[in-house]
Amino acid sequence: MKISIIGGTGGMGEGFALRWVVNHDITIGSRDAEKAKNSAEQYMNTALSSYGNSLKGTIKGADYVSSATDSDILILSIPYESIKLTCDSISNKIGNDCIVVSPIVPMERNDAGFTYIPFEKSMKSAAHLLAENLPSKKVVSAFHTISEVKLKNIKESLDSDTFVCGDDQDAVTKLNQLIGEIKGLRPLYLGSLSISYQAEALTPMLLNASKKNKLKHPGIKLI
Ligand SMILES: NC(=O)c1ccc[n+]([C@@H]2O[C@H](COP(=O)([O-])OP(=O)(O)OC[C@H]3O[C@@H](n4cnc5c(N)ncnc54)[C@H](OP(=O)(O)O)[C@@H]3O)[C@@H](O)[C@H]2O)c1
Repeated sequence: MKISIIGGTGGMGEGFALRWVVNHDITIGSRDAEKAKNSAEQYMNTALSSYGNSLKGTIKGADYVSSATDSDILILSIPYESIKLTCDSISNKIGNDCIVVSPIVPMERNDAGFTYIPFEKSMKSAAHLLAENLPSKKVVSAFHTISEVKLKNIKESLDSDTFVCGDDQDAVTKLNQLIGEIKGLRPLYLGSLSISYQAEALTPMLLNASKKNKLKHPGIKLI
């Protein structure tokens, strides 16, 4: 499968690339093509030394607009504030069957701790905003409660669940398969994209619990 990661130069993007390159061809998308190429080279070296002969995929870098073309799965691993601008630039580049994935958490920190921006400021969830700004019906949200530190540590099993929201069942099924390729990660379907806020809001909650109780990179697992 061809997987593009816009914002792939960030921590989450690195984790996605390192986890999925075992079986898939990855493109790192950036506002700066040179930065994307450098990150791709660095991730590929890590993948080669970690996976050796079992490595089937490749990682390359490109500017984010071209990375959006010709991909089966497009991860938008970018800040909430940049959704509108990014979508405007890529909306006519995405293929009809491309599945667009949002791990985006609209979050900020104030005196009370980490808070979920849409609740505080009556704004839209990341998934809602993204779907509103893209022609694709295949928008899925997931990975909100996965720590980039754990995702990047490819020797580690995540031993976690991730909630998945989406309205297109085929897109959800395909993303669930991809999630299942990450060691120790179980996808749990939550429902329609309209309730993605429930999953997104768990991240500031986890970070508050982490800070107050000195927990390192906590995740969520339903038992
Ligand atoms: N970090 C975590 O543990 C974690 C966990 C769960 C969910 N998330 C969510 O996953 C997403 C990615 O997280 P991250 O920590 O990897 O993010 P990040 O490092 O803050 O940003 C990722 C990339 O987005 C691009 N970017 C930054 N500012 C931008 C702007 N104003 N406009 C367009 N692009 C911009 C940058 O790429 P270029 O400069 O190369 O374009 C950057 O490398 C975020 O939405 C975050 O809420 C993060």
